[in-house]
Amino acid sequence: MTVTVCRLNRQEAEAHLDGLAETLALAVQGGAGVGFILPFTAMDARAWWAAQLPDVANGARILFGAIEHGRLVGTVSLLPASPQNQPHRADIGKMLVHPDARRKGVGEALLAAAEVEARRIGRSVLVLDTVTGSAAERLYRRIGWQVVGSIPNYALNPSGGYDSTTVMWKAL
Ligand SMILES: CC(C)(COP(=O)(O)OP(=O)(O)OC[C@H]1O[C@@H](n2cnc3c(N)ncnc32)[C@H](O)[C@@H]1OP(=O)(O)O)[C@@H](O)C(=O)NCCC(=O)NCCS
Repeated sequence: MTVTVCRLNRQEAEAHLDGLAETLALAVQGGAGVGFILPFTAMDARAWWAAQLPDVANGARILFGAIEHGRLVGTVSLLPASPQNQPHRADIGKMLVHPDARRKGVGEALLAAAEVEARRIGRSVLVLDTVTGSAAERLYRRIGWQVVGSIPNYALNPSGGYDSTTVMWKAL
């Protein structure tokens, strides 16, 4: 794999906005349940990422990029929990790999980087949710995430039908 995974600061995230936008838009257009409904264009995705830049700058969103020959082909976010009583917890979000780069271990490498950073900043309980039965759920299970359960009809998929959501956790 010629892909390098690294944490992106605000300037680096801004430099990779087009790649972040394309990766998110193609995921939604491909049916992934990551928070959006069709129609959803690369411009919509760019605007969403641009709105996250302040959080990237202040650490509320710890952003990782998978970079191949200078091009962003994947991303994941580590979102430290903000309540005073959860200083040891974080969420995982916006785990996305460009369709050209899937099934090569990029997703697993992104999660490994997020876990290393979570440990480094003292976060020992990670939580995420994902579409029940998705490729993502399979990946999380394979690398040791535990299933809390599945909530029926939790969210709409991009085409407007209902998807069930699996809630998962991992102790580091
Ligand atoms: C979920 C997602 C991030 C996974 O990314 P990925 O880079 O394909 O993940 P990996 O390559 O680490 O693993 C995916 C599969 O490829 C396989 N794989 C990994 N390296 C491989 C290789 N070198 N050769 C062949 N297969 C390989 C893995 O075993 C895994 O197989 P499985 O699906 O049968 O379990 C990606 O499919 C995606 O972006 N989906 C749309 C967005 C989405 O649903 N995000 C999740 C939100 S919770």
